[in-house]
Amino acid sequence: MNALFLPQPPSPPHLLPTTLPIIGTIARIGPNGSGEGFLDADGMLTTLTFLGNGSTIFYRDYVDTLGRKNEAMFNKKYEGTLKASRYGGYSMLISLFKNFIKFKNYPQKDTCNTSLGKIGNTWYAKMEQSLPSSLSFLKSGTFKTVESFTRINNTLLNSNPISGGALSAHSRYDPETDETFSITYGSEPPFLRLDVYSSDKHTSYPINIPTPVMVHDLTISSQFVIILDFPLTLRPRRLITNEFPVAYEPSNGARIGLFNRKKKDVEWFEVESCVVLHLCGCFETKEGIEITGLRSEPSSESSYILNYTPAYLHKWSIDLKSKNVIEKRLNSQQLEFPVTKGENCYCLKTHSIQGPLLEHVSPKDGILLNGIAKYNLKSGKLLKEYTLPKNSWAVSEVSLFHSYVGIFVSEVEISSDYKKLEDNMKSFFYVFDEELEVVEVIDLKDKKVNYGLHSAFIEEEDLV
Ligand SMILES: [Fe+2]
Repeated sequence: MNALFLPQPPSPPHLLPTTLPIIGTIARIGPNGSGEGFLDADGMLTTLTFLGNGSTIFYRDYVDTLGRKNEAMFNKKYEGTLKASRYGGYSMLISLFKNFIKFKNYPQKDTCNTSLGKIGNTWYAKMEQSLPSSLSFLKSGTFKTVESFTRINNTLLNSNPISGGALSAHSRYDPETDETFSITYGSEPPFLRLDVYSSDKHTSYPINIPTPVMVHDLTISSQFVIILDFPLTLRPRRLITNEFPVAYEPSNGARIGLFNRKKKDVEWFEVESCVVLHLCGCFETKEGIEITGLRSEPSSESSYILNYTPAYLHKWSIDLKSKNVIEKRLNSQQLEFPVTKGENCYCLKTHSIQGPLLEHVSPKDGILLNGIAKYNLKSGKLLKEYTLPKNSWAVSEVSLFHSYVGIFVSEVEISSDYKKLEDNMKSFFYVFDEELEVVEVIDLKDKKVNYGLHSAFIEEEDLV
């Protein structure tokens, strides 16, 4: 496809100048591989640690997962299950079986390549089909994997490698109650599990839904945890008919669940079928609650996991008395990776869909992201947008830190002659104020940043 998707090597700490007076670490996670399916590749963290003295440290390394340790010990490589999905469900089963024979243990590699999340006082690198790795971010600008394949004090199961069930990619924190919430899916009833972590306690609630579905995100209000039962159904038996186990199945219907944080029960509301990977946020109103997310309407059952479908800002207004739901698309801009602060949400603007990804065979499509759009979630209005210069592409989710908005950006011409062009790729860290005015562009010099996924900001007090 293009140079943005080529793997990049680990980097020792590298000092760069900055005008930002802050202390803390921007961390971006993403798959970094060569030859596996893109999403099968090992999780790598690209970090920038601001020292508060006019310097920042660029550092990059893999999460030291159990899978990587096993590969080093056995001198063998895991088979990628998503890469195998190109050839159907049988190939996925064969890959898992080969992994089990090679490594004599859990057959899904814990790549931990999807997201970063804090539970209690600990940061984790996460994926949905296997257990997370705990991380420690150091003041010196590096990080260490503390415990790979962790069950977080026995609160997680070593789950089914096909159906997920380990730990959701995303969680939400309520600073008022010091609780962290996550929704995890699985192929065995009750199909969803709500985990609530506080600094000294963990409680798990079964959430019964009729059909197993894939759930990637959630959001919270002071009264509710908002749970999506949308029809990206997860049926392991599809493997027997040589299909991918997750498919868009609109006839299954779609429901939004409001888990009452006091009563500990769920009320479900029917909505139009769709796929929502990421929610933006929600607001309680006089009548009930308004929920905003990036909604897709796939045109085929294979959409979303294997083929990209554009996503748009969408609001569901639930009236708790009449039980009515009004829903509407707020804007025609294609968006991804929402990050919310108060009423405002910063999304990346989807420029175009590119594909196929050549040797990174699954998913079949990749997207190019060429700017940031700031929306007010209550009014749905576009407040401000910034489009990156020509041939510059966002390669990280937006990070909101102190009063800044930051993204990693790589500048490269998009062409089929991608290997040659990779030599000319230049990467930067763009810093904006919250009105999307550029504050600083940090030139990462010879360090190139490839396409990645989610980001986090590690506060000064969390650096050790
Ligand atoms: Fe995500």
